Amino acid sequence: MYRTNTCGELRIINKGTRVTLAGWVQTVRKFGAITFVDLRDRYGITQLLFGEELNKQLEQDPPGREFVLQATGIVNERSNKNPNLATGDIEISVQSFKILNKSVLPPFSIQDDTDGGDELRMKYRFLDLRRNTVKKNIELRYAVNRAARNYLHQQGFMDIETPFLIKSTPEGARDFVVPSRMNPGQFYALPQSPQTFKQLLMVSGYDRYYQIVKCFRDEDLRADRQPEFTQIDCEMAFVEQEDILDMFEGMIKFIFKEVKGIEYTETLPRMTWEDAMWNYGNDKPDTRFGMKVTNLNFPQQAFPGKQSPLGTVGSESPLRGAGGPFDDAETVLAIAIPGCSEYSRKQTDELTEWVKRPQLGMKGMVFIKINTDGTYKSSIDKFYNENRIKAIVAAARAEPGDLILILAGAEERTRKATSELRMEMAERLGLRKNTEFKLLWVLDFPLFEYNPEANRWVARHHPFTSPKPEQIDTMIHNNPVIQNASAYLDHPYAGIKANAYDMVLNGNEIGGGSIRIFQRELQEKMFAALGMDKEEQQHKFGFLLNAFGYGAPPHGGIAFGFDRLCAILGGSEIIRDFIAFPKNNSGRDVMLDAPSVIDDKQLEELNITIQRKNI
Ligand code: AMO
Repeated sequence: MYRTNTCGELRIINKGTRVTLAGWVQTVRKFGAITFVDLRDRYGITQLLFGEELNKQLEQDPPGREFVLQATGIVNERSNKNPNLATGDIEISVQSFKILNKSVLPPFSIQDDTDGGDELRMKYRFLDLRRNTVKKNIELRYAVNRAARNYLHQQGFMDIETPFLIKSTPEGARDFVVPSRMNPGQFYALPQSPQTFKQLLMVSGYDRYYQIVKCFRDEDLRADRQPEFTQIDCEMAFVEQEDILDMFEGMIKFIFKEVKGIEYTETLPRMTWEDAMWNYGNDKPDTRFGMKVTNLNFPQQAFPGKQSPLGTVGSESPLRGAGGPFDDAETVLAIAIPGCSEYSRKQTDELTEWVKRPQLGMKGMVFIKINTDGTYKSSIDKFYNENRIKAIVAAARAEPGDLILILAGAEERTRKATSELRMEMAERLGLRKNTEFKLLWVLDFPLFEYNPEANRWVARHHPFTSPKPEQIDTMIHNNPVIQNASAYLDHPYAGIKANAYDMVLNGNEIGGGSIRIFQRELQEKMFAALGMDKEEQQHKFGFLLNAFGYGAPPHGGIAFGFDRLCAILGGSEIIRDFIAFPKNNSGRDVMLDAPSVIDDKQLEELNITIQRKNI
């Protein structure tokens, strides 16, 4: 037997017991004739004491860091207790030991605060995984996995695997493709999600499906995106949107309770997509803090029911015609930053440069400081009289001591930049606390999104998402062709909303889904609206259209970003830290050194020739 106990298990009540432990050497400390060794395994660390006799043996065969050691001895009370260690009251007086394996010197220290940089830790991920901080993340991931499975099993869901080698039908992201040896010149694609399979399972009658499944997307990577990531993927038949929201609100609450001990008793807040964009400039608002957006001016078609708090002069914004920075701007948005009126010129200049970065592309930023005595100092004094500035301050609901930041420009760009600025200021003010969790549903997404490059509609979620039932007629009876690109918002399709929903946690989209189209004709109409002729529809999605002809039930579903959920529950937004073997930001596995070239023989078998032009 290699061990009787683990290194995290023994306590003072075990005093006097003879035990055998096995693990990795964390540290070796010599004190004259005795030596202390901290032995570590998955469960903890236990101190081993080597007395005078064994010390001689130790000197002949000295264990170094990360050696695998087996030691037998008696559990004793420590004279010098360590309250920071679960096993800190005891130590093992070693009677015999054996080095089971040696280790070369590790390239970084296996400790919570390691000296290893990111790239080095990824190259030696098997060592990084020994560190307690990483291990905790992997344990949390398993806890979330277990909770999700338990809940879904209790609710009658069935885990059904779906294939990884499928047909390439890129929508949204790019596909990863795999060459087929047996079908020369042909390729499989790796699934971006099991979307069409889970819908087919509904047609087959498996009315509650789930899978904790890998998905593959060849897209630009960020902290919250990996090329292969995991979804908790679910689908249900004979349901309406409300049934799905209910079921998965239940699941997330169950996970929070099981994993974090947090009990949510109230129903989750719900926000329409339009309100999210209006108030936060963003469809995944972080609601842990206020700083809502004030819409001083905006294109009316984008928010048909809304009004600027400044009102209008005729049909124009009162901000226009003053010769200032707002004259030509389609959209003018403000946020009041609490307690920042004392910002120096240097600080506001720095923020201005921040919004001018190419990623945000703003031309500049206007600010109004509301001094604590209620007087103002602003960069637009020369364009507007005091009353107008007062009106802006009131509209932005700013208090004395606040700093109002105003961005102006094209609608989409300005809204995005304002949302990023809001998040950045919250970060700087320490308002994005990792210990607080704010969940909500965002509902009523637009069905379509305008793609200016192709001058056509693309699906906002995916092409299987159903329009709101009351808007099906608008979709069927209007021509999808966009005659006037600059006025695409006037096209009837721009206003069609979908039965689609996202779950948002602390400003992150952790899940998204929709009620699906289940009638063949409507699905064909949808494909046509997205610019697919009959032939292309048949080529790409013939199998689904065909299946819909055989009695498809009404159905809908959702998929959660499992890695994202784990990261946020673990107090982070970096999903890489919650994946055992992740890729780096260029999509490389630096440990395996993948992707890599393959040899000519393999290429030949696959009937592939590579043009090594730019490699
Ligand atoms: P969607 O594309 O919204 O929906 O994906 C669902 C959830 O998966 C997570 N996610 C990612 N996580 C890590 N890395 C990525 N590259 C990545 N991309 C997405 C997000 C997202 O909310 N088939 C539909 C679901 C459905 O309609 O049922 C789908 O895949 O948290």
